[in-house]
Amino acid sequence: MSTQSYQALVVRQSEKTFVKSIEDLSTDDLPEGEVLIRVHYSSLNYKDAMSASGNRAITRHFPHTPGIDASGVVAESSSSDFQAGDSVLVTGYDLGMNTPGGFGEYIRVPASWVVPLPETLSLNESMVYGTAGFTAALSIYRMEANGLDAESGSVLVTGATGGVGSMAVAILENAGYNVVAATGKPDASEYLRSLGATEILAREDVHDDSARPLTKETWSGVVDSVGGNTLATAIAGTRYRGTIATCGLVGSHELATTVYPFILRGISLLGIDSANCPMSDRKAIWGKISKEWKVGCLDEIARPFGLENLEPEIDRILNGQQTGRVVLAHSGVSNG
Ligand SMILES: NC(=O)c1ccc[n+]([C@@H]2O[C@H](COP(=O)([O-])OP(=O)(O)OC[C@H]3O[C@@H](n4cnc5c(N)ncnc54)[C@H](OP(=O)(O)O)[C@@H]3O)[C@@H](O)[C@H]2O)c1
Repeated sequence: MSTQSYQALVVRQSEKTFVKSIEDLSTDDLPEGEVLIRVHYSSLNYKDAMSASGNRAITRHFPHTPGIDASGVVAESSSSDFQAGDSVLVTGYDLGMNTPGGFGEYIRVPASWVVPLPETLSLNESMVYGTAGFTAALSIYRMEANGLDAESGSVLVTGATGGVGSMAVAILENAGYNVVAATGKPDASEYLRSLGATEILAREDVHDDSARPLTKETWSGVVDSVGGNTLATAIAGTRYRGTIATCGLVGSHELATTVYPFILRGISLLGIDSANCPMSDRKAIWGKISKEWKVGCLDEIARPFGLENLEPEIDRILNGQQTGRVVLAHSGVSNG
């Protein structure tokens, strides 16, 4: 394929600040890799916002194009696993961190990062899930492998209106679980009930300052994207042999707890990493997302945006004010 010029959101360092603008780039400047993809959709995750604001724990070198998620069509492939015209998706690995990501209309990546788009998902739907939905699904997949099922009792989702939280509420409800959603947004009840939460808690209800190692056995499972005291409170209130998936740190990266819930109640704390999830699990989880975990409320969760109006959405996610999923549609793509 001949060189293509394309548009991308580029973050540049200007003295001590980081400036975002839409620039014209060339596919010649993309890194080496077996698969060149014309990106149709991407999405906004917390990690993208950190990259876009110059967080060097995420992105070491600028100028940089963020976007840890991308779905689109293969433009060129030197791998026998993919042909030009294939619909595919990529989430995680190094995409959008130090490899130019889905906020550009083209990406070039190793074939080992690429997942064939499941037949029953559109390119657009796959990005409503994106990393956030994949992380929620990975959490539930690992919790079920650890013994959780819909008969076990209620599952708590913290940071429930966020990307991971919204997708966790919707997938769990779809899979038959009784879902309790904890949120810091007082006016979010209607939204969370529309996703399938049966009970709504205020954020403060999952914040116990007493330092008690064990509280009333309440939850059989927890999907936590907040960390800190929220996670410690959830651990103390988890039922005998319950399972907690820890996947985020929007509240805090710290965790003060004791061994008592683990040795007296036999609970399990599962660490969730979506970026480097092995390809066998990755394909199995996208398979579930496209079938039994395909939720009916994707339109309620997704908010479509173009490159030109992404910046306020980045600020919103950094301020903890985001609700649902921001899906980036690149210009000139059909609505597939
Ligand atoms: N482990 C992994 O592989 C993985 C993958 C994806 C994301 N993550 C992590 O998961 C977390 C959530 O990501 P996301 O993309 O879902 O972000 P998000 O869309 O911004 O959602 C985060 C939600 O957490 C709540 N929240 C925000 N600030 C808070 C605070 N100070 N204290 C308590 N709750 C707060 C808010 O929901 P409410 O207002 O409803 O409470 C917010 O909407 C991030 O830490 C991200 O890095 C990890």
